[in-house]
Amino acid sequence: MSNPVQDQYEAYPYPGRNPAEEKARLITGSPSRLLEIDHYLFGGRRDWTRPFRALVAGGGTGDATVMLAQQLADARTPAEIVYLDLSSASRAIAEQRIAARGLANVRFLNGSLLELGALGLGGFDYIDCCGVLHHLPDPAAGLASLTGALAPGGGIGLMVYGEYGRTGVYPLQAALRQLAGDMPLNEQVGLAKQLLKILPATNAFRQNRILGDHQRGDAELVDLLLHRQDRAYTVPQLAELAAGAGLAVASFIEPIRYDPGLYLADPALAKRAATLPALEQAALAERLASNMKLHIAYLTREAGSVARPSPDAIPLLIEWDAAAIAKSVQQQGAIKGAFDGLPVTLPLPRQAPAILSRIDGRRTLSDIQREMEKLPDWAAFMTLFQPIYRALNGINRLVLRF
Ligand SMILES: C[S@@+](CC[C@H](N)C(=O)[O-])C[C@H]1O[C@@H](n2cnc3c(N)ncnc32)[C@H](O)[C@@H]1O
Repeated sequence: MSNPVQDQYEAYPYPGRNPAEEKARLITGSPSRLLEIDHYLFGGRRDWTRPFRALVAGGGTGDATVMLAQQLADARTPAEIVYLDLSSASRAIAEQRIAARGLANVRFLNGSLLELGALGLGGFDYIDCCGVLHHLPDPAAGLASLTGALAPGGGIGLMVYGEYGRTGVYPLQAALRQLAGDMPLNEQVGLAKQLLKILPATNAFRQNRILGDHQRGDAELVDLLLHRQDRAYTVPQLAELAAGAGLAVASFIEPIRYDPGLYLADPALAKRAATLPALEQAALAERLASNMKLHIAYLTREAGSVARPSPDAIPLLIEWDAAAIAKSVQQQGAIKGAFDGLPVTLPLPRQAPAILSRIDGRRTLSDIQREMEKLPDWAAFMTLFQPIYRALNGINRLVLRF
């Protein structure tokens, strides 16, 4: 069953991880945080006391598997996570990470996600497939296979490369194949490092400041520059991939990056953009920003899986402290940050700190509204809350649960 992609990940399991570090930290990220899965795929209404089955397809060295397993154990959810990957070297690292945490809710398998039908694993409520489909000869067949393994009402957390943010990668990959394609992979790594030092100043990869993965380690350098099977997607191409499998994009992450209004300071232009259908808005945002090096999307069969603000919704912050964020917004009047080289300021209403400081995992939006002075009704509250929600949900720090 050997193929060049499998051989690569046997020699260079990705990403480079040391199981001993599990004692010190939990790596979290999108997709696949439980809070995100609930918000984007289950309308914020999943009962986590009920059994949950997840598949991590192309699990690599285990980031998503470890995060899911830990979060489901913490939630005391009766869960089974199936880890599946071609690479036995990657699986060994993922297994050691799960063992280091003393978790018992993961089943490890070596095999191809293309053979899910034959593996007879049953239906999954959720499938994580991160950085894998773009390495298949036929990504559409891969997504169709995953979709066939979804339980009714289930959904997928997907990551594929973004075309514009990877400017310069593919010409450099081709140059490296010309210079070193006939060498063993470890020698190609050495040659690639040499070449990186002497790239001409005009080289598109050298000019692309948002790509730094290759500096983290050899596995990351191989993955970025020496891959044998690798493509990238624009938003319309990703939407087409999803539609081909009978799926729709429930949301991109971070949502606000896919809102062209973020990039259009001219109100007339922003207004024109806002009239476009949602996917066209996302495509426009990608074209304007040019800095999306990957796309994270939650995919479902049925529309309407995303939670929406309503009086009984409980707002939850993702890995942020309410008091700290309220204080920072009080001082700055805005949320400030950067997306892959683009500084972003999201102004918030004067009352935002008072609202944010009340987010405690128990209060509903209507509880918060009733505690706010001079906000007599829900409509008045929503006028204030909408820009807060657009900003904080937009940067993937705020979700809803019921
Ligand atoms: C770039 S790594 C991503 C690992 C992990 N999902 C992550 O995001 O950290 C791609 C992984 O997909 C696996 N892979 C590639 N093709 C596969 C297939 N057909 N079936 C299962 N796994 C596959 C590789 O072995 C590799 O571990």
